[in-house]
Amino acid sequence: MKVAIIGATGYTGLELVRILLNHPEVHITALTSERFSGQDYSSVFPSLRGIIRTSLETLNIDKIIRKADFIFTAVPHKEAMDIVPQLIEKDKKVVDLSADFRFKQPSTYEKWYHAHSSPELLSQAVYGLPEINRKKIRYAALVSNPGCYPTSVIMPLVPLLKEDIISTRAIIVDSKSGVSGAGRSLKTQSLFSEVSEGLKPYNIMNHRHQPEIEEQLSSAAGISVSITFAPHLVPMNRGIISTIYVRLKHSTSAQTIQNIFNKYYKKEQFVRILPEGTLPSTGFVRGSNYCDIGFCLQGKKLILVSAIDNLVKGASGQAVQNMNIMQGFKEATALEHIPLYP
Ligand SMILES: NC(=O)c1ccc[n+]([C@@H]2O[C@H](COP(=O)([O-])OP(=O)(O)OC[C@H]3O[C@@H](n4cnc5c(N)ncnc54)[C@H](OP(=O)(O)O)[C@@H]3O)[C@@H](O)[C@H]2O)c1
Repeated sequence: MKVAIIGATGYTGLELVRILLNHPEVHITALTSERFSGQDYSSVFPSLRGIIRTSLETLNIDKIIRKADFIFTAVPHKEAMDIVPQLIEKDKKVVDLSADFRFKQPSTYEKWYHAHSSPELLSQAVYGLPEINRKKIRYAALVSNPGCYPTSVIMPLVPLLKEDIISTRAIIVDSKSGVSGAGRSLKTQSLFSEVSEGLKPYNIMNHRHQPEIEEQLSSAAGISVSITFAPHLVPMNRGIISTIYVRLKHSTSAQTIQNIFNKYYKKEQFVRILPEGTLPSTGFVRGSNYCDIGFCLQGKKLILVSAIDNLVKGASGQAVQNMNIMQGFKEATALEHIPLYP
């Protein structure tokens, strides 16, 4: 299958290339960049020297449509909403990694982002969390890949909300992300001297991923769920750890919690449920498509901890997982990386 990546010089674009180069069904036929157009991909990313010969090209929709059957859009939000409709109109299948198609209501998007130029596509786009939406993803033309924080938060909470065992009014999420979560473009707040040797909260209760998490949790619970969300920036390249404080409706045993997680995730290759008291770490999932979930229980107090690699399960790995489902390939194809530890 001929695949193009629009926005190939970002961190998620690079991660898509890294994964897709090992995909037996995929041939990468186009990689786009505005800043590095005309340059060899491996000259921009020397880690790929001798591995890929493709050159970067300026985005030209007609060319991409001729060159590829399946397209990943890995550009910033606002940019994707103008590109994706032109691809869908030409019957291409798309996984969009931006936030532009993650919401069902244009008003929610517009409240947290800006005006939407293609609101008609929002109802058609499928939220690409395979473990939860696999059946819908299979027949979708447009899959909206989830945000990195949302993946880490939604995965542990959905089973507990579906089983109606936790309060929907007292969910507190404390998340910590590595700096690659902010992308590769130059920003003062991502400079080494701003980030190293410190750990800082940012956008508390004002982060654009909060409404995305709430929309998905509300859909799972069947009633409106609102969370308290505190993201933090950590001086590491990759990884997200989310510590989630919830209140059980009734005291229950660790075995019951374990049974619920097993019911939803036992057969899921990329979800690892840990025994009570065993806690995940970003170091144990780095470079892999795993989401590790642990928990601790004390009376009605339950603390969940999840860990993902923001660039893999939180972005490009999940995007390839979605592509595999949409194309009827084996879901784990090209995704069975063993975590890179230490
Ligand atoms: N980083 C993460 O952990 C993460 C996780 C989940 C989702 N996402 C989302 O995935 C998307 C990509 O993220 P990223 O971290 O890879 O971003 P990034 O490192 O900033 O890269 C952005 C890419 O988009 C291209 N681009 C920028 N503006 C463009 C335009 N107007 N037209 C065409 N191409 C344009 C850039 O190309 P140039 O070479 O021309 O600059 C670059 O290749 C974003 O929407 C982000 O929110 C990121």
